[in-house]
Amino acid sequence: MAVSNAASAVSSMDFKKCRKFHVFLVLALVFIISCSVSYKWSISGRWRETVRSNVTILIWTWPFGQTSTLRKDECWDSYHVPDCNLVDSRSLFSQADVVIYNRELQNGVTKLPLDLPRPPAQKWVWFSLESPTHNGDLRRYGGVFNWTMSYQNDADISVPYGELVPRTTKGNYTIPAKKTMACWVVSNYQSSHKRSGVYMSLKSLIPVEVYGRWANKPLNDDQVLPIISQCYFYLAFENSLHRDYITEKLWYNAFLAGTVPVVLGPPRANYEAYIPKDSFIHVDDFASITELATFLNELASDKERYNSYFRWRSDYDVKRYYSWQERFCKICEIYERLPPRKIYDDLDSWSKHEP
Ligand SMILES: *[C@@H]1O[C@H](CO)[C@@H](O)[C@H](O)[C@H]1NC(C)=O
Ligand SMILES: *[C@@H]1O[C@H](CO)[C@@H](O)[C@H](O)[C@H]1NC(C)=O
Ligand SMILES: *[C@@H]1O[C@H](CO)[C@@H](O)[C@H](O)[C@H]1NC(C)=O
Repeated sequence: MAVSNAASAVSSMDFKKCRKFHVFLVLALVFIISCSVSYKWSISGRWRETVRSNVTILIWTWPFGQTSTLRKDECWDSYHVPDCNLVDSRSLFSQADVVIYNRELQNGVTKLPLDLPRPPAQKWVWFSLESPTHNGDLRRYGGVFNWTMSYQNDADISVPYGELVPRTTKGNYTIPAKKTMACWVVSNYQSSHKRSGVYMSLKSLIPVEVYGRWANKPLNDDQVLPIISQCYFYLAFENSLHRDYITEKLWYNAFLAGTVPVVLGPPRANYEAYIPKDSFIHVDDFASITELATFLNELASDKERYNSYFRWRSDYDVKRYYSWQERFCKICEIYERLPPRKIYDDLDSWSKHEP
């Protein structure tokens, strides 16, 4: 009796221990599995494809008719953006999460598919990199689009013409050798543009080399940077003056060429939201074009002071977007953060509003 009591006491002890051990095993297993899942999540965006489906982005019409052939998984293969199905086949309209329309709507090249049933969650995007001066009348698009995509800082998907990113290029920046005072590349010259007046005044005071169609000195793509790099100053004059409208004239022609931009565009404070204050010269900083010319002359002959306009280059590299696809893939990168419900009732006013 006593023996069997002792035996049953032992076996119930064993049983308790055993159950504790089981609980421990299960917990450990759960821990290991959750660790490995979150590890896989963190190391590979691709893992998510099996968890969350792709965002399908349909390009309704290529901007300026500049069609590109899309790879099967363009955003991943070219830009390492996962879960992004970028397509340009209109037959995929009903499956698209996002449809991108652009300025081609305005010149009659394409029309909105108002006859097709619009999936309730599908977002229509107005895309344009042009300034309000060149977008035409957008009043007809009230209540049509859900998101905007433009160079403007307050667009849902903001795609500036360029940006500064922390420097990863090895070694110190070398300022290219200079031999010309100021340069300007212009193809669309119109005397009504503010920039044309500034140019006319400036060229009577300092030497300005002009290239491009207007000057009958067109440059090939591979000539632009080497030629401009020899200029102390580049006239990064925008064709129209609007908030955030800071184009490749600054990012490419001036910064990538390795020269100091003299800018004409939105106010200085707006430029300073994008680039360091000692990286450029603003036409508005001077009471007259004569004062501007005097300053440029002084600066070009004072090497140390001139070089100080390149100081930022030890901290930043210039990033540009090279293709439409790269910009469109960005939609997937920020997709989760975009407003789930939105309607632009007055696109025209939105695009024109100044701060
Ligand atoms: C996502 O899209 C890519 C590119 O079209 C495709 O290769 C992949 O199979 C898709 N994944 C899912 C889960 O639909
Ligand atoms: C880069 O510039 C720093 C500071 O001017 C200097 O000390 C350094 O030697 C330079 N490095 C190279 C690789 O030229
Ligand atoms: C997108 O805009 C359309 C047109 O105004 C609207 O009917 C629809 O509800 C909007 N969708 C979302 C998800 O906001």
